[in-house]
Amino acid sequence: MKKLLMCDPAYFDIEYSINPYMKDASGLLNRVDKNKASIQWKNLRKTFKDLNCDVITIPSQSGFPDMVFCANQSFPFFDPRTNKNTVILSNMRSPQRQGEVAYFKKFYEKLSFKIIDVTSYLSFESTGDLIFSFNQQAAYGGYGQRTSKEVYLEIQNQVPFEIIPIELTHPDFYHLDTCFSVLNDHVCVLVKESVSPQSESVIKKYFKKIVYLEIDQAKKYFSGNCFSVDGKNIVTQAGDLKFCKELLDLEFNCSEVDTSEFLKSGGSVFCMKLVLPS
Ligand code: ARG
Repeated sequence: MKKLLMCDPAYFDIEYSINPYMKDASGLLNRVDKNKASIQWKNLRKTFKDLNCDVITIPSQSGFPDMVFCANQSFPFFDPRTNKNTVILSNMRSPQRQGEVAYFKKFYEKLSFKIIDVTSYLSFESTGDLIFSFNQQAAYGGYGQRTSKEVYLEIQNQVPFEIIPIELTHPDFYHLDTCFSVLNDHVCVLVKESVSPQSESVIKKYFKKIVYLEIDQAKKYFSGNCFSVDGKNIVTQAGDLKFCKELLDLEFNCSEVDTSEFLKSGGSVFCMKLVLPS
């Protein structure tokens, strides 16, 4: 059973813009329907539970409207070398979000995790950019937008798995999890234009099959932000018929959920949860 962490959306809102999705065409901040957001969040939690996940929550905090995207503040893993649950805390790039990390630190302290801070000033946005391979023997490390390339040199010294750097080159795909998702040992999802040609070649080496998303498809539905719960069941934003058909053809199950209120802030399924070591 997978253990997931979610952060409730009580204070979710759009109060500033730090990615290309948070404003509308006329340049005004998108407006959140809080009631709808709450219903969508609960439905996402139920979907995870129905797929046999154990979901725990961390309380949201006033003044941190992006905290609901709880993939971004921390990168937890089990370290077999110390036999300890361990977490690396983020050094978030935008000042508006930096204060979120302290609440996660307290949460992990209570659970007796070994806590690792990034000691350099370099930015690191955790599971938004650092994404485990399916067997967790390696992790893909997106850099170039929110996370700096050099921070992985520091992190590589702290973790028991190999970090495979992936260069993000397109401003609309500002975290690796907006354009790349690992479905199982052999299949991943990718927006080709979001990474450098060298990084695409690296990804090709590791996966037998890549489900490519078109830029417009990935921006509209955030299908690159889907989540493979167990290598078989994929949870994804509703409406991308082409993507769901491809998943079904590859013998995955596709659970469609509506995260439209969260898309207004540039996030969806993958970044609204964090996988905890079980
Ligand atoms: N508004 C949030 C931000 O820009 C959205 C974060 C979504 N997270 C993600 N990993 N894609 O930071």
